[in-house]
Amino acid sequence: MDSIIVKGGQELHGSIPIAGAKNACLTLMPATLLTDEPLTLTNAPRLSDIATMSTLLESLGVEVSGLQDGQVQVLSSRQITNHTADYDIVRKMRASILVLGPMLARDGHAVVSLPGGCAIGARPVDLHLKGLEALGAELDLRDGYVHAKAAKGLKGGTFEFPVVSVGATENILMAATLAKGTTVLKNAAREPEIVDLADCLTRMGAQIDGAGTSTITIQGVDSLHGATHPVIIDRIELGTYMLAPAFTGGSVELLGGRLDLVEAFAAKLDEAGISVEAGENSITVSRKNGRVNAVDVVTAPHPGFPTDLQAQFMALMCTANGVSVLEERIFENRFMHAPELMRMGANIDVQGGTATVTGVDKLKGAPVMATDLRASVSLILAGLAAEGETVVNRVYHLDRGYERVEEKLSACGAQIERVKGNV
Ligand code: EPZ
Repeated sequence: MDSIIVKGGQELHGSIPIAGAKNACLTLMPATLLTDEPLTLTNAPRLSDIATMSTLLESLGVEVSGLQDGQVQVLSSRQITNHTADYDIVRKMRASILVLGPMLARDGHAVVSLPGGCAIGARPVDLHLKGLEALGAELDLRDGYVHAKAAKGLKGGTFEFPVVSVGATENILMAATLAKGTTVLKNAAREPEIVDLADCLTRMGAQIDGAGTSTITIQGVDSLHGATHPVIIDRIELGTYMLAPAFTGGSVELLGGRLDLVEAFAAKLDEAGISVEAGENSITVSRKNGRVNAVDVVTAPHPGFPTDLQAQFMALMCTANGVSVLEERIFENRFMHAPELMRMGANIDVQGGTATVTGVDKLKGAPVMATDLRASVSLILAGLAAEGETVVNRVYHLDRGYERVEEKLSACGAQIERVKGNV
C-alpha cells in the first residue's frame, strides 16, 4: 500500500485546478441505465471510485469508454444484459446502490447487493427501499440482496424522507423519471449534486421541478434519450484545497472554484480570519501569518456545513487560537481522524458526536493512518504545517476521492511525495 510523505513548513503559492465532482459522477453514471442511448459525461474525475462504478456498470452490460482521455466518460446501455449488482463490487463502494432505481425503472426488475456499512457508520439504505416502494416497487430482502420487482412498471407517488438522504433522493429521483404519473419527494436532499443530476436527467428528456429545494416534483415520461452533460465541479475537493493555505500561510487560487457551492464553509473560513475572494471562474484563499481563530462547526445537510469537510476543518482548528467545538450530526462515527491528529500533538476531546479542540502552537509530524477518504486528506493538510515529517499510510482511501493530490499540492510549493508500497 502506498504512503504519502509530507514535510511541513512551506508556505503555499500558486493555483490548483478543481476536478469534476466524485459524488455527482457516481449518480450521473447509473443514469445511463434509464436509456438505450449513449450518455456522455465531460469533466469526469479520474478516481478509483469512478473506475469501480464503471466496472459495475460494465457487469450489467453497459459499454464504457473514454474514461481516461480528457475526462470524458461515454456510457451506453443499449440493453441491460445482467440485472444483478454483485456483492463483490457493491461492498467496495456503497454508491453502487444507485443502480437499483434506474434498473428497476427501465426493465421492471433488479437484484442489488445490500452495501453494508463502512468506517464512518452503519449507512443503512432503508430510505432507498421505502422510497421505491412508494413508487409501487415490490421488494424482497434475502441472502444479503434486494430483489426488486415492478412488473407493471413504477407509478408516481408521494414520499416524505424522515431524514435528509442524498443517495436515497438520487435513487428515487432517477426511478421517478420513468414512473407513470407524478411523483412528489418531500424533505428531499438539496445538495448541488442533486441539482446536477436533475440538470442531466432534464437534458435526457425528464420533467423535473424543484431540484435544489426540499420538494421535488417529477412528471414521468415514457422514455429518456441520450445526452451530453458536464459534471459539476467537486465542492468537497474545492473546500479541501481552500483550507491548504489556511494551514501554511500564502495564497492559492482554486481554478473553477464557485463560491455558491461552498457558502456555509466559506463563512466559517471568514470567521477563522482567512481571506476568501471570488474571481471570474476561481476562488483565491490567503492567510497572512498569525494563528487562525477558533470557530465552532455543526455539520448539516446542504446548504449547511458539509460533513465531508468536517475532518479537514478539525485539522485546521488543532492549531487555532482558542477552543473549537465541532458537532458531527450526519454520521455516527466520523471522528476517526481525531486519534491520528492527537498522534501529531493535537488536543482533542471526543464525546459521542461532539469533538472539542483546544488549539496548540504547532503540530509535530508523525506516522499516521488513513481510515477513510476525508480523514486521509485531513492528515495530509495537517502535515503541511506540522514540524518535521508526516507519513500518511493506506492512502488508497485518498485515491478514491482525490485526483493526484501530491501533484496538485507540490505545484504550489508543498514538500510532498508518494512512496509506492510493496504490498
Ligand atoms: C452521500 O452519501 C455522499 N456520498 C457522502 O460522501 C456524504 O457524506 C453524504 O451523502 C452526506 O452528504 C456520495 O454521494 C457517493 P446520506 P449517502 O444518505 O447518500 C442516513 C464522501 O466522503 N440514511 O445523505 O450515503 C445515513 O445513515 C462520502 O464523499 C439512512 O438512515 O448519505 C446518514 O446518517 C462519505 N437511511 C444520513 O442518512 C438511508 O436509507 C445521511 O446519509 C440512507 C441514509
